[in-house]
Amino acid sequence: MAGMKRDYDYLFKLVLIGDSGVGKSCLLLRFADDNFTDSYISTIGVDFRFRTVTIDKKTVKLQIWDTAGQERFRTITSAYYRGADGIIMVYDVTSQESFDHVEEWLSEVDRYANENTSKLLIGNKADLIDEKQVQEEVAQRFADKLGIPFLETSAKAATNVEAAFLTMAKELIKTKEASMSKTGGSDGKTGGSTSGSSANGKTSGGVTLKPVKPNKPQNTNCCK
Ligand code: GTP
Ligand code: MG
Repeated sequence: MAGMKRDYDYLFKLVLIGDSGVGKSCLLLRFADDNFTDSYISTIGVDFRFRTVTIDKKTVKLQIWDTAGQERFRTITSAYYRGADGIIMVYDVTSQESFDHVEEWLSEVDRYANENTSKLLIGNKADLIDEKQVQEEVAQRFADKLGIPFLETSAKAATNVEAAFLTMAKELIKTKEASMSKTGGSDGKTGGSTSGSSANGKTSGGVTLKPVKPNKPQNTNCCK
């Protein structure tokens, strides 16, 4: 319909993964609502939120999927990696075990996600300095080896949460613009579908066990 204008320049689908209890839902709550809760309600299946941000004068709509860390949901959540533009792997800086598991999460990602999916590593709960088990330098070296950006965050203290999501969004814009200039720049601006979206800004979605319609693949070999 004429007059139906898209309210963003880019739409990206991000997925949060990592062990249960590392703070994925809290990171999303902080980013989407600027809120925090100490009570722990383990995510069942998946959940999503939207937030629109402006980066370099571009309107970027982020659809962020929050997955359950619990093993029993693994088959459901892995379906959401497909079609993701970016995957954010989260561990808890007070849990060596959650950091050790990052490699396993990484192999899950490599198995299910698109080859060109951007990745980001987050060490959350950085406010718990006295309980820290994973040193920042160790995680940084690990991330450097993998060639992925890394940040320590605190959803509780609101440290680096904004920076983490914006780092990912900037990375995705860069990749998108590079691929657009390669293909001549036609129709490259949407990252994918708008399943579940209506208004701009902060929209949320409920828990679902139904696989979502995957985003339009970013770099298919089709030439128009
Ligand atoms: P699953 O849904 O089971 O996969 O867990 P999750 O990764 O979503 O963890 P969630 O966000 O529910 O947080 C788990 C617990 O950690 C909650 O009690 C939070 O209050 C707490 N928590 C989350 N982020 C932080 C943080 O930055 N600092 C501190 N101190 N606690 C946090
Ligand atoms: Mg959760």
